[in-house]
Amino acid sequence: QIRAASTPLSHPPFSSGWSPTCWPSTVVLKRSGFHKSVTRAVADETSKDSLGKRPAEATLSQLGLNDQSVSEFVSECDSISRLTSILITIPGDIAGEFSDTIIAEGAVSCSVEDANVGTDDEQEMFHAGSLAGERAFVYRDPVEDEWLSSRGMWDQSRLIALFPQDVDIAEVVATASRILGIETPKYEMKGVVDEDWVQKVKDAFIAVEVAKGVWVVPTWLEPVDPAAINILLEPGLAFGTGEHPTTRLCMQWMRSNIKAGETVMDYGTGSGILAIGALKLGAKSADGTDIDALAVESSMTNASLNGVADKFFCSECDKDGGIENEKVGLRMDNAYYDVMIANILLPPLLALEERLALAVRPNGKICLSGVLNEQAPRVVEVYKKHFDDLSVDSDNEGMWACIHGTRRS
Ligand SMILES: C[S@@+](CC[C@H](N)C(=O)[O-])C[C@H]1O[C@@H](n2cnc3c(N)ncnc32)[C@H](O)[C@@H]1O
Repeated sequence: QIRAASTPLSHPPFSSGWSPTCWPSTVVLKRSGFHKSVTRAVADETSKDSLGKRPAEATLSQLGLNDQSVSEFVSECDSISRLTSILITIPGDIAGEFSDTIIAEGAVSCSVEDANVGTDDEQEMFHAGSLAGERAFVYRDPVEDEWLSSRGMWDQSRLIALFPQDVDIAEVVATASRILGIETPKYEMKGVVDEDWVQKVKDAFIAVEVAKGVWVVPTWLEPVDPAAINILLEPGLAFGTGEHPTTRLCMQWMRSNIKAGETVMDYGTGSGILAIGALKLGAKSADGTDIDALAVESSMTNASLNGVADKFFCSECDKDGGIENEKVGLRMDNAYYDVMIANILLPPLLALEERLALAVRPNGKICLSGVLNEQAPRVVEVYKKHFDDLSVDSDNEGMWACIHGTRRS
């Protein structure tokens, strides 16, 4: 059995519409072909933040699924296209365990949301951060995390579980209740979900213009503007589909600042989107690094898809800046790069200040993101030791920031 965590889903196991404002819950996929994807999804556990109250829909990238893994899942689970959905309202302190147990007993997926969602009693649970620390996009205070983890789920949590047709749902719910020593809760049948999951997954991704004249195009779509710079991506394996404002902020900065023939380091490369973008914008070579082995793999795959594999090299790193590949490590040690891009979180940006700064040649450029607007001054404060002319760009909503400057000579 494989367990993956993600956000509440309107149509588990997949749903459309990526949003940075997502809420944690649990989704479980129970087929062997999912090892890789699920490892990824667990890594993304309890991802994202929310300033608003309403859970956003989950996406492939959060689940770590791609088209192939979806197909595998579909073919491995005979009844996947006709799943019965049930709703159970349950106290928050047992919602997680109950979800796990019904998965173990036969549910294909289970998501958890606030039972009072959309009402005055809706509880804000996760905000401006994540329990997953560095793996998630927004940094949150560890003190608050402790508060959150002690708090469990919403006081009244709603489980939405999907079952294959051949599973006796009443029996599963009764068994799970027995195991947890609780009274069998009432549940509401929501009928049969009959979806073309693969199509649904594909529908969730569209081509996006991430900077003027720079598009991110899912592999199965034709470019909207064939004359533009088109970055082909296999969405779902790693962070970086072009949907997130920080990726766009970095790409917009790169579009105006990358010069032909430059050397680039994309630190925290994810899908490789920024490195590939830099190469398509004229960079001579781009190195990437990531603490996530799957991101490393995915970035190389995406570089091949874009015909830039010969100019892109990606190596795994550890969270303290140690780089697995010696050549890339030496470059980092020797102020090799004309441009350093790092779209990671505030804590690693602060912790890796020397590492990132000293990898940039004198007069070279740095572009840092992955931070909220209000966190930008802390980045500026730390990086001004090494960089001149540091300035901050914000996204249209004024929520996310990107900080850039020039290395002092
Ligand atoms: C927000 S994503 C950015 C992905 C992509 N560069 C983009 O702009 O869309 C951050 C990436 O940084 C990686 N990461 C997080 N902390 C890191 C660290 N300390 N060192 C290297 N990579 C890190 C994550 O695994 C993730 O792939």
